[in-house]
Amino acid sequence: MTSTLIAGNWKMNGLARSIGELEAMIAGRSEVPDTVDLLICPPATLVAAFALRAQNTGVSIGGQDCHAAVSGAHTGDISAEMLADCGASHVIVGHSERRADHGETDAVVRAKVEAVWRAGLVAIACVGETEAERDAGRAVEVVERQLDGSLPERATAANLVVAYEPVWAIGTGRTPTVEDVASMHAAIRLVLEKRFGDDGGAIKILYGGSVKPDNAATLLGVDHVNGALVGGASLKASDFLAIAKAG
Ligand code: PGA
Repeated sequence: MTSTLIAGNWKMNGLARSIGELEAMIAGRSEVPDTVDLLICPPATLVAAFALRAQNTGVSIGGQDCHAAVSGAHTGDISAEMLADCGASHVIVGHSERRADHGETDAVVRAKVEAVWRAGLVAIACVGETEAERDAGRAVEVVERQLDGSLPERATAANLVVAYEPVWAIGTGRTPTVEDVASMHAAIRLVLEKRFGDDGGAIKILYGGSVKPDNAATLLGVDHVNGALVGGASLKASDFLAIAKAG
């Protein structure tokens, strides 16, 4: 694996004035190792302005979701082509908040990954078990099923990133043990290699869920953890940069 990806998911946070935080990230980029790629996914309202500001700075800008269609009668939705048109390079799809709040199934997520590829962008496909599923000893089985259903054929290291985010670790300050992260990421790697061959060995697998400056080095040091998807701690440049420096 040649590089680490530290991706920030701003969720439904940020106004026009938040571009100051992006500017602080850009200013701090030089202190982050060259082997670490930085990506910020602001709300859709800010993608265009952020992408313009971040051009040629070593910070990429992505979307948090897209519709599967190119265009049409889908009030309130945006397409992957629109995100590409704004300057986005990546799109997060299948985040557990969308699966839970918007009823997105694996089939819907798969169609969105296809849409992201159609637009020429990189999909960050999210998977992860609930607490009840982990307690029942079914975490790996659940994630494997999500991968099977959510990932189309033709995935490559250039068009797909997988993010493992245990639902119970998101926004809670709780994280799995290093052993649990290691065994889940190894299981995901196996699924990717079986389906996508050599490419499956090179597809980045991010860990997400309560990644903070004080646990980043530990989590990023686990085998098959090729980066992080950061929520709350990506809203502040100082925290996001501290996590990136651990990458
Ligand atoms: P968190 O969110 O870092 O605030 O736990 C992670 C995510 O949902 O991507």
